[in-house]
Amino acid sequence: MSKRILVIVSILVLASLVLAACQPAATEAPAVEEPAAEEPAAEEPAAEEPAAEEPAGTLKIAILAPLSGSVPTFGVSTRDGALLAIKEWNEKGGVLGMQIETVVEDSQCEADPSVNAANKVIDQDGVKFIIGEVCSKASIPISEIAQEKGIVQISPTSTNETVTLKADGSTKEYVFRACFIDPFQGKVGAKFALDNLGAKNAFILFDQGNDYVRGLAEAFEATFTDNGGTVVGKETYTVQDTDFSAILAKVSEANPDVVYLPDYYNIINLVTAQAKEKGITAPFMGGDGWDSADLDRAASDGGYYTNHYSDQDTRQIVQDWVSNYEAEYGAVPDALATLAYDAANLLIAAIEEAGEADPAKVKDSLAAISWEGVSGTITYDEFHNPIKAAVILQVKDGEIVYVATVAP
Ligand code: PHE
Repeated sequence: MSKRILVIVSILVLASLVLAACQPAATEAPAVEEPAAEEPAAEEPAAEEPAAEEPAGTLKIAILAPLSGSVPTFGVSTRDGALLAIKEWNEKGGVLGMQIETVVEDSQCEADPSVNAANKVIDQDGVKFIIGEVCSKASIPISEIAQEKGIVQISPTSTNETVTLKADGSTKEYVFRACFIDPFQGKVGAKFALDNLGAKNAFILFDQGNDYVRGLAEAFEATFTDNGGTVVGKETYTVQDTDFSAILAKVSEANPDVVYLPDYYNIINLVTAQAKEKGITAPFMGGDGWDSADLDRAASDGGYYTNHYSDQDTRQIVQDWVSNYEAEYGAVPDALATLAYDAANLLIAAIEEAGEADPAKVKDSLAAISWEGVSGTITYDEFHNPIKAAVILQVKDGEIVYVATVAP
């Protein structure tokens, strides 16, 4: 408590020194919740007032991404895609005359580190705009903070439906995404299994504790069974598991036409390698979580997954993006880098459109935006979900091969 008072006092002193330079504190909702008897409410927002520390003419944007933990390629790609977009804006003069400064935090694809990272960038760095997280189970807790504090959050890649929804099913006004959602992604996967692979029987393996994995498994099952398919087995595991022999024995026994495994690449690598050892030949299928430079292409060979984009897309905007990214980083951009690039561009375009870096205004201009991104044109439905096509990719002889595009 005494530390907090000290912070408030010192910021008030600073604030009075640079009063003229201060931007109006837009929506400092948290200050209202913390009644400080000794301070008039109007001055209280100083506890989070960034303007005192921020050089005039800069705008801070935070990137929250899993740079360490179980899925680090997700974080690196996301950070790099967003940074490239921001670099391009800065080279063109920034936004609203301000250069964009980034605050990058490692949120690890987990709830607790994500909550800490979100609170840190908002409360200590004075950030009002967040790009992130990648993983739905991390974006969901961040979205609650963003919504409560009036901070605009755009997740490039979190596909779970509840990221942008309040418990009562209404939309979190401050929360957006740049990707389609899992009810669509699961449906695309199931239809592909039925119509293109001719699958009649599917086995589903999923991690109950991962919002994304569970949601996608449910969406796949609903479409698969509604369209005449049969789910011949469903088994769960946990993120700590490394030995999948018991559930893979059940897969062998059921002998399905396809195995749906909608998890992240680290789990895909383990399960598909053990399935190959067991002699399971049914193709594995999954979702965007397979997208990684570290996907084991030998173990997952023959598998299919739904994704947001293919670098083999011949549209000019895609090919320009691939060559710009390659020139900058020496690698082909994956879907995560691409969506992070789109998300950063969308957010900054909305700030420009709002005419003021005020989250309350930016959220309204984002909700109304129409933006041609690399991953497709983005306009929002009432739940802040873009309506976009999915692609289907196959892991084949060490390559990732584009198979089809499926429109909503
Ligand atoms: N869609 C995943 C989630 O919501 C994250 C992800 C997106 C991973 C794209 C890889 C590629 O958790």
